[in-house]
Amino acid sequence: MFGLSREKEVVGLDIGSYSIKAVELKSQKKGEKELYEVKKIGYEVLPHDAIVEGTIIDSAAVIETIKMVFDENKISNKNVSISISGNSVIIKKISLPSMETEELAESIIWEAKHNIPYPYEETNVDYSILKPPDQSKNKNLDILLVAAKKDKIASYSNITNQARKNLEAIEVDVFALQNIMEINYPEIIKNKTLAIINLGANITNLIIIEKGMPQLFRDLSLGGSLFTENLSKDLNISFDDAEKLLKGLPVKNIQPEQLEAGLNMNIQNLLEEIEKTFSFYEASNTSEKKIEFIFLSGGLSKLKNLKNNFGQKFNINTEILNPFLKISHDGKKFDPIYFDEMAPLFGVSAGLATRKMEK
Ligand SMILES: Nc1ncnc2c1ncn2[C@@H]1O[C@H](COP(=O)(O)OP(=O)(O)OP(=O)(O)O)[C@@H](O)[C@H]1O
Ligand SMILES: [Mg+2]
Repeated sequence: MFGLSREKEVVGLDIGSYSIKAVELKSQKKGEKELYEVKKIGYEVLPHDAIVEGTIIDSAAVIETIKMVFDENKISNKNVSISISGNSVIIKKISLPSMETEELAESIIWEAKHNIPYPYEETNVDYSILKPPDQSKNKNLDILLVAAKKDKIASYSNITNQARKNLEAIEVDVFALQNIMEINYPEIIKNKTLAIINLGANITNLIIIEKGMPQLFRDLSLGGSLFTENLSKDLNISFDDAEKLLKGLPVKNIQPEQLEAGLNMNIQNLLEEIEKTFSFYEASNTSEKKIEFIFLSGGLSKLKNLKNNFGQKFNINTEILNPFLKISHDGKKFDPIYFDEMAPLFGVSAGLATRKMEK
């Protein structure tokens, strides 16, 4: 999206509010196909409250953690692609009649001014033209308009620069996820209607894609942190203990029934919020309205049974998104934990590393 250059190989750097993830891929063309292999990978948890709801509070800690991820995993490539999300990023799908490029640029500025809830001067606007599978059906141009607050872009750019990385491109989380889905689940994304739900600490990114065409985007302000806060309040335990419980670790004096009740309430809230978005989508006048697959990613997707909770609530096939399903790695070089247990955490970073960002 907000790309600065195109050709360099980059490290996909996902600066989350809970953890930093980095992935570097090697790619090789084989006939029509692009084959990917993991070159480098790294993960580090941030100090608590270093980033709150997408706002960088403790820059020094974030810079330090980024450097640590690179140094400890011997990632020498300094060129990075990062992503932003949350309420200072707006994604809108608009439809315009076919027109010349110059005219289009003007129309897009007009649309941006009318569709974005922030002053135009305070935002950076970019767009991409969607190419429907059957071009003959569609005389209009479907365009994805992305606007991000300049101050958000500036703060994430500063952090990256201060961590001595070269910022090559800024994406949004949901597009990085779509990229990684296209590589790993090409048939499903081409032929089905699916929802990708990235359950982070502060933000849950949701995108609905119909036969490869993104239809609806939401960044919900909820995630694992809210679960942890609620558990800590409800069970009268520390934040750290609540976090342990969330990860399935035992905590003194907490009975399984208490935990189950506490978790259940949080899960139901989450499912209800997602149901609202699904209903909104189903009520919209798009062509195919039935969601056939749900793919979960992000730290909270590791919550025990969450996949089943989704499956039961919506009666939809639910899977955990494995960003490395079709991406190979040298088994001798890496800790296998990255590719099994931790794989769901790397959806955004691996998507950023594929750099399929051409317009
Ligand atoms: N095994 C686990 N079971 C349940 N929850 C987990 C597990 N591991 C991590 N989490 C939770 O997942 C969240 C972190 O997920 P993730 O690393 O995807 O977030 P992030 O990308 O840093 O945050 P965000 O995208 O919201 O800014 C935390 O709330 C953490 O408690
Ligand atoms: Mg995240």
